[in-house]
Amino acid sequence: MQTVTRLDPLRNALDALRIDGTLALVPTMGALHEGHLTLVREARQRAAHVIVSIFVNPRQFGANEDLDAYPRQLARDQALLEAEGVSLLWAPEPQAMYPDGYATNISVLGVSDGLCGAARPGHFDGVATVVCKLFNQVQPDLALFGEKDWQQLAVIRRMACDLDLNRPHASAILGVPTVREADGLAMSSRNAYLTAGQRAEAAALPHAMKAAIAAMLGGQSVGQAMAELVARLTASGFSSVDYAEVRDPVSLAPVDDPRQVPARLFVAARIGGTRLIDNQPIC
Ligand code: PAF
Repeated sequence: MQTVTRLDPLRNALDALRIDGTLALVPTMGALHEGHLTLVREARQRAAHVIVSIFVNPRQFGANEDLDAYPRQLARDQALLEAEGVSLLWAPEPQAMYPDGYATNISVLGVSDGLCGAARPGHFDGVATVVCKLFNQVQPDLALFGEKDWQQLAVIRRMACDLDLNRPHASAILGVPTVREADGLAMSSRNAYLTAGQRAEAAALPHAMKAAIAAMLGGQSVGQAMAELVARLTASGFSSVDYAEVRDPVSLAPVDDPRQVPARLFVAARIGGTRLIDNQPIC
């Protein structure tokens, strides 16, 4: 596996790989876990070469979010990617991504609002902007993202569609189902912040979501199901629930009756100082 940190060598390396066939991109911010490696394995099934990017994107961190504290473990990540058969690691310096004078922002209206967008103003602008740049830099045939960050995936798909991107085309932006621990908790770098007690309590999140989904499919109103979900999480040790909402999977518009139209349940809840998110289909 080759690691490149500047654009010119990236282009040369990509030209050489493209001779063999299709390229799949897996964008990441590093600190890789099993969820990322699942994306890489899926990408390997679908393309001749897998390119992984590692870039801790300053533009998607809010003023109150600690960019400097974000884990950076390049040597460990390189070893993991090498073992997975990744062909190329694109690990640009911030200066290569946002050189002096950089002035462009991509804002995807509607899908960026509410849910995680409400608590993190500007976050999805930062994501859309960096992902558009990564797409233009690598020009992959397909790109893979985890469904755990469903709103992010919806924002990226909307951006690719609206900007007529072709590499990858919006239809080649693939969501990979959330990888879960044995007790159902969605894998996340943030799980490492939980104490053993909090980690045990955190499993209540996917279970309470499943119960709410079953209740709504049985005819309970969204409002009542969300109230019971919040009560169940609070009783299980969660300190607060940032949101618990039922939305359309593509537009992310609120859904009143999930039995009539496609819908997904989205939850963000805090346990101690750690904010966990999850989403599940209502079907
Ligand atoms: O999901 C992430 O790790 C990041 O938001 C992404 C898509 C790599 C953009 O920085």
